[in-house]
Amino acid sequence: MPLVPSYIETLRPYEPGRSIEEVKQKYGLTRVAKLASNENPLGPSPLAMEAISRNLDGLNYYPNGGLDLRERLADRFQLQISNVITGSGSDSIMSSIIRTFPCDDDEVLTTEAAFIGFQVLARSRGIAYRTVPYRNWHYDLPALASAITEKTKIIYLANPNNPTGTIFTRHEFDEFYRHVPDRVLIILDEAYFEYAQDARYPDSMHYRYDNVITLRTFSKIYGLAGLRIGYGFAHEDLIANLLKVKLPFEPGSLAQIGAMAALADREFVQRSLDLNAASLRTLRDSLPPLGLDVIPSDANFVMVPFETAAEANRVFEGLLQHGVIVRPLGAFGLPDCLRISTGTDDDTNMLLEALPRVCTKEEVCRN
Ligand SMILES: Cc1ncc(COP(=O)(O)O)c(C=O)c1O
Repeated sequence: MPLVPSYIETLRPYEPGRSIEEVKQKYGLTRVAKLASNENPLGPSPLAMEAISRNLDGLNYYPNGGLDLRERLADRFQLQISNVITGSGSDSIMSSIIRTFPCDDDEVLTTEAAFIGFQVLARSRGIAYRTVPYRNWHYDLPALASAITEKTKIIYLANPNNPTGTIFTRHEFDEFYRHVPDRVLIILDEAYFEYAQDARYPDSMHYRYDNVITLRTFSKIYGLAGLRIGYGFAHEDLIANLLKVKLPFEPGSLAQIGAMAALADREFVQRSLDLNAASLRTLRDSLPPLGLDVIPSDANFVMVPFETAAEANRVFEGLLQHGVIVRPLGAFGLPDCLRISTGTDDDTNMLLEALPRVCTKEEVCRN
């Protein structure tokens, strides 16, 4: 009898980007710019850090399962607490969704090369996982609508999308939604929604549909990726079922306290947005003259396609040697692309100094 089902046997585990310490040690470097995991380059929200340091003495008690943060979020977004869930990162809520809703014959439907965290979770359940190709690096929503079958149970849409950084508009979503049967759940993953500045970006608070689950996170703009804290909104029946399945007690107490303080840290959010806009602009302006394409992004990263996987890999390895960590996208299913997060001015400058030295195109290397 096999130890695990075949879909676990063949599953490739989620591989995080390289850590700063690992790269410093391997290449004997003192300074490393981590532009690999779409984290906040300004650090954590200062209000969150203060609140956490004031609340260390309650750690002997179990947390209350996110109740305080659920109340705070319900208040902030004018929802009932029964419409809100929190978890140890939006990944954890996604994991609960995957464990809660699909039956064995059901299918998950999404785009090719979707966010790797979702791919791994969905495949870990052993249900069919179907994809539709990108159209010009955007979700092809009409093709996704046509691909829905009677077996489709969950459609996963990230907006802005990771790894492409592209968005779909309110109009595009409305059009798509008309074709989705009520029995199909849509996960609207909005990990990067704060960064999306396009006026056509849909505010999912208008999508209080019974079959839409919105997921958001404190890992990105609030700078709390290390705490593991995320949240979701949905119809109360969906939330009630998710609450049956989620791990008892999560999220951790300090994660909850940090998140509540961060939610009020408007100054930090604005500073993070300003830095992101400046860094995105620099990437957009500086990479094309080096012969690199930049996919226009509404998030805190850009995707750069290369002609071949070997070229992408050479640039990735070359940048590591210069102390710049970016994200290769082979695991996502895009081996000829790299993803580069926005950073501080120093980080971005390190990247821009290193890139001409490692790019493989002759005319670039001469510079
Ligand atoms: C699209 C998307 N969804 C979810 C997550 C996971 O977020 P969290 O840290 O809240 O688990 C990420 C993290 O990179 C992401 O890019």
